[in-house]
Amino acid sequence: MSITFLLLLTTAIPIAAFSTPTKKIALITGGNKGIGKEIARRIGTEPDFTAIIASRNVELGRAAANELIAHGEKEGCECDAVALPVPLDLTDAVSISNAFGYIEKEYGVVDVLVNNAAICLNDPTLYGKVEYTPFERQAGITIRTNFFGTLEVIQSFLPLLKKSSSPRIINVASAAGRLSILRSQSSIDEFTSEELTIPHLCNLMNQFVSDVEDGTHTSKGWPNTCYGVSKLGIIALTRIMARQHPDIMVNSVDPGYCKTDQNDNRGVVDPADGAYTPYLLALMERGGEDEEEEEEEGEEILSGLHFYEGAEMPWSYQ
Ligand SMILES: NC(=O)c1ccc[n+]([C@@H]2O[C@H](COP(=O)([O-])OP(=O)(O)OC[C@H]3O[C@@H](n4cnc5c(N)ncnc54)[C@H](OP(=O)(O)O)[C@@H]3O)[C@@H](O)[C@H]2O)c1
Repeated sequence: MSITFLLLLTTAIPIAAFSTPTKKIALITGGNKGIGKEIARRIGTEPDFTAIIASRNVELGRAAANELIAHGEKEGCECDAVALPVPLDLTDAVSISNAFGYIEKEYGVVDVLVNNAAICLNDPTLYGKVEYTPFERQAGITIRTNFFGTLEVIQSFLPLLKKSSSPRIINVASAAGRLSILRSQSSIDEFTSEELTIPHLCNLMNQFVSDVEDGTHTSKGWPNTCYGVSKLGIIALTRIMARQHPDIMVNSVDPGYCKTDQNDNRGVVDPADGAYTPYLLALMERGGEDEEEEEEEGEEILSGLHFYEGAEMPWSYQ
């Protein structure tokens, strides 16, 4: 390139045209398929967002990012989706730490963390299609993955969330984690207590696992759903995190019964629709529509809440 041409370029185009405005960073766990992929599609299509697809299988994450980019180009709505080049497995603390290290180095911040990855062992729709896991073994695997794995991700990424000007955590829960699965008022009181702490919640989750393993969980008032208890724990965790970190908007979401691999694609909601509420929470102002008014009146922040179809839903599902 000649010097004259370079000079022409530098004089004809304002400097600002060369600088890329900083985009917000959204990290979506389990973003390689199902609802997570649709959350990445929706967020990545927003002009000021980059959606990072985290997955336990990096190749699947890459394929999903390529699919979202190609689809965006075809439809004329650019999707800025990037696959995390290192695995993020909820059951592998080293992978979570490596994922943190990569994002810290490359981006230095996480604005939105969507905890979407989860397992649902032995959903009735999968009988005969996947290997059967006996109930007494399901509890440990499910609670370790869905509850403790998600907790590990949240705690690991807190330092990067704290670097955002408007950080938020969106935990994908489920109606399966509604309060009414608990059979006694004392259990409900324990899970909904404003005094509940993370160590206490971890003890409750561990207690459920050991009660299932020694065959006493029903006599002790626990329900017959490991997936449900894991999601109940996620909703309780959401409320604790919101209390402990008022600077972060932390909410949980029920995406509805979506047509994904989790239920052999027998769900009735399109995963793109299930992704709508998490997407809304990623973009929504901290105080909702009347943010300015509410901040003046004393900061009513949309945090520590449970959402369904774009609106707050009581945990009791009444
Ligand atoms: N579908 C529904 O009707 C429904 C209803 C309520 C709530 N949800 C919740 O919505 C979220 C997404 O579910 P989905 O329906 O989209 O299910 P899905 O299609 O089965 O996707 C689950 C995602 O989680 C990932 N995952 C599983 N175990 C993991 C682990 N140990 N580490 C990291 N990633 C892991 C999967 O990765 P692989 O591809 O490697 O397996 C996949 O990316 C889940 O939290 C689910 O509980 C779903």
